[in-house]
Amino acid sequence: MLRGKKILIGICGSIAAYKIAILTRLLKKEGAEVQIIMTDSAQDFITPLTLSTLSKNPVFKDFQSDSSGEWNSHVELGLWADLLVIAPASANTIAKMANGLCDNLLLAVYLSARCPVYLAPAMDLDMYQHPATLNNIEQLQSYGNSIISAEHGELASGLVGEGRMAEPESILEVIETHFKKKEKFENLTALITAGPTYESIDPVRFVGNYSSGKMGYALAQQLAYSGANVKLVLGPVSIDIDHPNIERIDVTNAEEMLKASKKVYKECQIAIFSAAVSDYKPADVADQKIKKESDSFNLQMKKNPDIAYELGKIKKNNQINVGFALETENEIENASLKLKKKNFDFIVLNSLRDEGAGFSVNTNKVEIIDASGIRKSFGLKPKDEVAKDIIDYLYEKINS
Ligand code: C5P
Repeated sequence: MLRGKKILIGICGSIAAYKIAILTRLLKKEGAEVQIIMTDSAQDFITPLTLSTLSKNPVFKDFQSDSSGEWNSHVELGLWADLLVIAPASANTIAKMANGLCDNLLLAVYLSARCPVYLAPAMDLDMYQHPATLNNIEQLQSYGNSIISAEHGELASGLVGEGRMAEPESILEVIETHFKKKEKFENLTALITAGPTYESIDPVRFVGNYSSGKMGYALAQQLAYSGANVKLVLGPVSIDIDHPNIERIDVTNAEEMLKASKKVYKECQIAIFSAAVSDYKPADVADQKIKKESDSFNLQMKKNPDIAYELGKIKKNNQINVGFALETENEIENASLKLKKKNFDFIVLNSLRDEGAGFSVNTNKVEIIDASGIRKSFGLKPKDEVAKDIIDYLYEKINS
């Protein structure tokens, strides 16, 4: 299953470090190539000799090799890996990663790695629940890193709670799913519309909305990390995009968004419509800045094209269209109507009645309504996590 896959494991100081001997064996049995980096304190819990014997590779501890004084290039290690798994990930290393600190080889490799990164935290329950740790984990998720959640159970301190590192078998399963998903998505191209549209009133004013484009960008990132090629048709937002699999196509208004989306739709197997497109636009755009001469001002509006609807009409059997619905009332009924009308395969509903859901916030709470009638609800989560849930659902759908 993992034949030829290059897995780099970073081990931090935690009693759970002993479990990495088992994880290394499991990975090797599956045919993976394994290289290991240990922090100083990790070596208090398990010896480099054990791990080099099991991985059949020298273990890296510092920028220089002990014996030869040779330079261990963090850039090369980062580029070598198909996947970096930091397990156990201590509160200390998590905090340093979240803040870009770089005082050991593992952190230098993390900062220079171009591959997906998974972390399996291990710490005492109160450390795991501390707002600082939770913030740091959320920060790492916003960089696109994935968390293999710690489990509930007896901890080294004798306390019982959440904080035990996931078992090696569970970590192996996450790694296998990652590569299975990658294989599935690698040959796929996805269109994502995101952000608001600005509809000009005159040369300096527009009608728009508060959409930040964050949800669409999180989806683009998750698909790109899963190996898909993403065409991100983006309304005016200030987002920096730096993934080689994401092609950014900037547009300003709904007409431009439709044109750009139509142009790439035929080559896409997946289309996700997350843009908050202005439903109407000013009927006439003034050539010059409108002067404030009268006491009142009427703006005549006309309907904009519905991008999802237009592309839903030409959808082929091998294409999956996903829509979003932001509702304030009769949520399920309204979302189900849109699902049908726009020929979506499933629609992601978020209600403005849910606290923490909506435009400018970093969190979202969604429910998926599938054309088959299946409904799936999710809890309030950071938008990156919501994006993962949606992409996982998409993956199941492609596989079913
Ligand atoms: O009808 P409503 O705007 O609520 O529909 C929401 C869904 O339709 C979203 O997926 C949105 O991106 C898409 N949409 C669109 N073009 C429009 C309006 C909405 O693609 N003009």
